[in-house]
Formats: sequence, structure tokens, C-alpha cells
Amino acid sequence: MAIEKIIDNNEDNHDESKKIEKNDVEDVSSDLRPKILNEYVGQINIVTSLKTAIQASEARNEAMDHVLFHGPPGLGKTTLAHVIAKEKNSNLVVTSGPSLEKPADIVGLLSNLGEGDVLFIDEIHRISKGVEEYFYSAMEDFKVDFITGSGTFAKTLTFPLKRFTLVGATTRVGMLSSPLRDRFGLTYHLDFYSEDELTEIVNRSSGILGVSIEQDSSKEIAIRSRGTPRIANRLLRRVRDYHQVNHKEKKLDRIIASNAMELEGVDIQGLDRLDRQYLITLSNNYKGGPAGIEALAATLNEESQTLVDVVEPYLLKIGFIIRTPSGRKMTLDGLRYLGEESRKLSEEGSQGSMF
Ligand SMILES: Nc1ncnc2c1ncn2[C@@H]1O[C@H](COP(=O)(O)OP(=O)(O)O)[C@@H](O)[C@H]1O
Ligand SMILES: [Mg+2]
Repeated sequence: MAIEKIIDNNEDNHDESKKIEKNDVEDVSSDLRPKILNEYVGQINIVTSLKTAIQASEARNEAMDHVLFHGPPGLGKTTLAHVIAKEKNSNLVVTSGPSLEKPADIVGLLSNLGEGDVLFIDEIHRISKGVEEYFYSAMEDFKVDFITGSGTFAKTLTFPLKRFTLVGATTRVGMLSSPLRDRFGLTYHLDFYSEDELTEIVNRSSGILGVSIEQDSSKEIAIRSRGTPRIANRLLRRVRDYHQVNHKEKKLDRIIASNAMELEGVDIQGLDRLDRQYLITLSNNYKGGPAGIEALAATLNEESQTLVDVVEPYLLKIGFIIRTPSGRKMTLDGLRYLGEESRKLSEEGSQGSMF
């Protein structure tokens, strides 16, 4: 039986946007995470490849190769790390890049790992350079060299390690140094989910949450989820609340779902207030660009990291913006979207703004 040992001494240090943190809390509160590969919806290529790698390592009775997952937040990287440990029936030790500060911590962490254990490092791009070097020999030769003292008193102590599997996750693969990246035998990029896959995820989650929902409502949630399972689950909860409070006696149909999501500020494209603010700022303040990310972040009063990790990947995916060497630019589709939005607002005679 796998024991899950969570070392998360990084609670105050979580640097992903507030938006993500809030949703993470919700993820934990009810157990919507798939536990095994067969429950994992979508990402077929990754699932197939992982199945092979897991089976092969089982057959050889070995630890699996180190695995790196990269891609935007909310697409299932952490989930896959848990799934791997479960499928391998291994212990899972969870930590994150920013919490690995001192070399002594690393030596302690690594030498406590047992044969075949899975060490999951979230936000692995945020490991400090000094600490990163310890991982090179740990990953490749399963040993760590620890230097004590300094100058003529310096001594190198070598600690042999058990064969463990490192699973890393990052939203910024470009920030990983190549020596670290090269030590992962398996590297996977998670992409946004299709509407059908998200519908399946919403159906699965409503089953777990005990929400009875009509098929076209699940689809409506999927359409507005920005290709992201975490958002699909969050919207499902908001729709459930809205239905419970306002229309308890009726079936949870598509109109109720749409109204609930409009109230949340999520439009038919799945864009929320921050997405729209971003587009409006780029269009109005920077005449459609090119605009640098720091300038945009300052105007929006947001962290540039939030814009790069959370807002931009989906706007790039749906072709509303492009990245050029001189900065971000609106596309015609992006401008058309803003035009539609302002037309809708004036037709509705809305007093509120698009924000
Ligand atoms: N393939 C999937 N099938 C079903 N649910 C998923 C899937 N991927 C992610 N989820 C849901 O989305 C939430 C966010 O996934 P998570 O693994 O935390 O994303 P990441 O680590 O990439 O930010 C999970 O709690 C889970 O409920
Ligand atoms: Mg995660």
C-alpha cells in the first residue's frame, strides 16, 4: 500500500498567481483528482507513453526514469505526479522548488528516499542554482556530494542514494538549465484540453460531487473552461451553487449554467475579467501593441508572472494575441472579439463596464 508523505514547507511561498492558489485550495477540499491513469481524461499520448514506461520499469523491477511535466497551470501536472506514485505503488514525497534552499536540506531529503520512491518537485524552475547542482549527480549517479567546512578544512562527503524517480513540474520550461533538463528521461508537454475531454471531466466531477447536471450544461461549462480542467471544476462548483440558491426546483439546464457563469464574469469564449482587461489594455493603451510584458503588467497592476503563466497561454492558443520579438500584439481575431463585446454591451444598454 502506498504511503503518501507530503513535505510541503512552502505554504507562504507559493508564487503562482492568487487565482491559482485559490483554486488549488478548492481542488484539495474535494477529491476530484484522477488517481490512476485509466481515470485520467485526455492527454492520450502522455498517458500511453507513461503506461509503457511504468510497465517496463515494473517488469525490470526498477525505478522509473525521471519525468518532467511542463505546461500552463491547471492542466494536470501535479495530478500525474500523484498518479505515477500510485501506479508504481510507491511512496510519494512532495516538495517545491522555492522551498529547497539549503544544501543540507537537499541531502536530508534525498538520503531519506527509499528504493523506487517518487520525489515530486513542483515549480522546479525555481530551485536555486546552488541547490540545482546537487541534483545533477543525484539524478544521474544516485549519490550526493556534500562539502563541509571551507578552505583547507573542506571535506567532501559522498552519500549514496537509493534509486528514486524525480518528477518535476513547471509552467516555465525555458527557465530550466539544460544540464537539469537533460537529466529527465521522459519529458512531456501538457496541452489544453478539447471541449469533449472537458465535458467528460465535468461529467466525472459532477458524479463525484453528486450534482445532477444535464449534458448540454456540462458542455456549456466545458466551452467556457479555457481548455483547463481546474477551471472546469471551479465553474462546475459555481454553477452548482447558483443552481442550489436560485433554481433548486428546476433541472440544471444550459440556461442556468450560462447565467451562473456570466455572473462569474466568464463569457462564452471562457475569458474572464483579467483576460478582457489584458486585451483592452493592449488594444487601448498600446494601440494593439507591440507592448512589453512588464509595461502591460504595470498598467494592469498585475504580476508579470501571472500574465505570462495564466493569462497569455490561452490567448495565444486561441490566436487573440501573438508574441513578437518586440512584444505582444493583438490579432484581428482579438480585435474582433473586443468589438463584439463592446457591441453586446451597448445593445444590452449595460451600465457596467466590460471589466
Ligand atoms: N486529465 C484530467 N482528468 C480529470 N481531471 C483532471 C485532469 N487533469 C487535471 N484535472 C483536475 O484539474 C485539477 C488541476 O490539476 P493539477 O494536476 O493540480 O494541475 P497543474 O498541477 O498542472 O496545475 C485537478 O485537481 C483535477 O481535479
Ligand atoms: Mg500543480
